[in-house]
Amino acid sequence: MWVESSAPSNIALIKYMGKTDVKSNRPTNSSFSFCLEKLRTFVRVRQNPELTQDVWRAYQRKDLRPIELSERGLEKFLNHFSFLKKEFKIEGFFEIESANNFPSDCGLASSASSYAALTLALHDWLIQNSADGKLGYRPKELAKLSQKGSGSSCRSFFSPWSLWHADGAESIQIPYQSLKHQVLLCDESIKSVSSSEAHVRVLTSDLFRGRVERVEARLQHLIEALRKENWKSAYEICWNEFWDMHTLFHTSVPSFMYMNDMTLKALRLLHDRWSVKQDGPLITMDAGSNIHLLYRPDQQSAYEEVLAEFRPLMPLWTDEGYLEKQ
Ligand code: DP6
Repeated sequence: MWVESSAPSNIALIKYMGKTDVKSNRPTNSSFSFCLEKLRTFVRVRQNPELTQDVWRAYQRKDLRPIELSERGLEKFLNHFSFLKKEFKIEGFFEIESANNFPSDCGLASSASSYAALTLALHDWLIQNSADGKLGYRPKELAKLSQKGSGSSCRSFFSPWSLWHADGAESIQIPYQSLKHQVLLCDESIKSVSSSEAHVRVLTSDLFRGRVERVEARLQHLIEALRKENWKSAYEICWNEFWDMHTLFHTSVPSFMYMNDMTLKALRLLHDRWSVKQDGPLITMDAGSNIHLLYRPDQQSAYEEVLAEFRPLMPLWTDEGYLEKQ
């Protein structure tokens, strides 16, 4: 019998970029994210006694976008599954199917939702199939397991705000509970440098020096700004943080770049708007070309204005789903 689970993606405002231990995805610094409830990965698992190894395939469901996994991506995904089976003391082999309801591998944090959903699916299978009424793992424990598969996935276990620090990920209280999310899709193709590779390369940048101190201070300032509902300060911190991360990409050895002409054009338009109005969405970017915007509920007209301005230029992902260019 199939057991199905799903998990949301999350967007970091303070980024996890750089690891002190690659094997366990131990980060160089704390990170902080907002949960993207509507951007989800769906995973279903089923034990099959005829199999001699675990088998993954894309989940074919009309409302989902089938994932394509590279050889390396597949190996990493199945390795995490084996690790989970060992942890949960599950024998035998499984069929695993997964898919997203949003474009993958282009800076919409699909690895966060994929690994969180995989971890949850096998955990749900364990609960449903344990005769002795085994008690489930708590979200903090599941987050720690999921981190081993992909670091950012540990933040997907907490909503809406998640803080990942030295002791693991946890929920954090911030007054803005329901921000609206919009993505300007400047490029939907699969990115040439994976975020796992980016974590390694940024350490070679001269500008990485001081990053940890800089980012920990920025994290404290951002939490304080959001708690005081100082949106202007939050905007400035988020703006500086994603530029900091992308500058590391541009100055690593060898250097690489996710931003394209469309990204730069859109960033300039958005930032000019902010400068005039001194208000607007928080802007951030992941390891990709796309731009994420977060709006307070009272900024509906700004949300609609951006929709009207950018929709002719590029496809958008909004709370209503994927919007093709007009
Ligand atoms: C740029 O979690 O994808 O999205 O641990 O190697 O799987 P691995 O990396 P991953 O890194 C995400 C980095 C980021 C910023 C962030 O989400 O904090």
